[in-house]
Order: sequence, then C-alpha cells, then structure tokens
Amino acid sequence: MPLQVQTPTPVHTFTQRISATPRGARLARRLARYHLDGWGIPYDSEMSDAVAQVAAELAANAATHGRVAGRDFELRLLLVPDGVRVEVTDTRTERRVPEHPELPGAEAESGRGLVLVAALAAEWGVAERAPGKTVWARLRFDGTPGPAHLSPSGV
Ligand SMILES: Nc1ncnc2c1ncn2[C@@H]1O[C@H](COP(=O)(O)OP(=O)(O)O)[C@@H](O)[C@H]1O
Ligand SMILES: [Mg+2]
Repeated sequence: MPLQVQTPTPVHTFTQRISATPRGARLARRLARYHLDGWGIPYDSEMSDAVAQVAAELAANAATHGRVAGRDFELRLLLVPDGVRVEVTDTRTERRVPEHPELPGAEAESGRGLVLVAALAAEWGVAERAPGKTVWARLRFDGTPGPAHLSPSGV
C-alpha cells in the first residue's frame, strides 16, 4: 500500500465526473486550464501548461486502462498554498499503475504518460479506492509565484 500523503487544506477545489472516453480526457485538460485561470493561474503560465499535461495524461489513462464500461472517472483539482494537486479516480481495481514507470524504447508509441507525470510533479502516487484507485500528482510553484491571493501572506 503506497504511503498516504497528507494534503494541506486546499484554497480552492474543483471536482467533476467525466465520461471515460477520449473526449472526456480532452475535456479534463480544458477544465484544468479553465479553473486554474479562475484561481489566478493564467493560461499562458508554466503551471497551467504543466497541470494541463498531467490532467490530460491521468485522464487518458483513466479513460483507457482504468475504464469500466458505463462508469465515469472523476477529476479533482486542488489549489494548495504551494501548488496544485491533480487527482484522477477511476473505478477499475484489477489493473494496476506501475510504481516506477520507465521510458519505453525509442520506437514505442505509448508508455510515456506516467514518465511525463513523474517529471512534472514534485511527487505523485496511487491511493487505493473501493472500487478503483486515485492517481494523484502534486505540482509546486517553486520559484515562480503562485496566484496573488496566495502570497505573500495569503496562506
Ligand atoms: N488508471 C490506470 N489504470 C490501470 N492501469 C494504468 C492506469 N494508468 C496507467 N496504467 C498502466 O501503466 C502503464 C503506463 O501508463 P502510461 O505511462 O500512461 O503509458 P500508456 O498509457 O501510453 O500505456 C499503462 O500501459 C497501464 O498498464
Ligand atoms: Mg497513458
């Protein structure tokens, strides 16, 4: 069982059930950008790009590998004081997410999604659900400032 990480109290959250289809995965990407913008993280920022990519990869995985016919997946975005947390929950229990994804060979057309997530996130992991699982990733603002209302004393 992976380590459960405490999530700091979020400043904003957004939760949406989305159909487990390629279209749903694209919707997840757009929703991420849209809600971040509303929270003060503009479309043209590095954080918006990174969160959109992570949301798109996790949603695409939920809609393919994690798909159960007739079930939606859930996208959850949390603005926390030091960054953004993305959570994607699917309902498929028996297929597992590798803990240490590795880059596939140069010829491979798939298998890069989780490597990308791991590269963009400060940390990521999988939490078991009944049924299914939540794949989460936490992206940090680091040197780049977050939304104005989070700094300098907005925490
Ligand atoms: N939500 C998920 N449910 C089940 N298996 C998953 C899920 N996400 C990823 N995986 C497994 O991890 C592998 C690697 O995922 P990824 O790096 O995104 O590559 P790809 O999606 O191109 O196969 C997948 O092929 C799949 O076996
Ligand atoms: Mg993938």
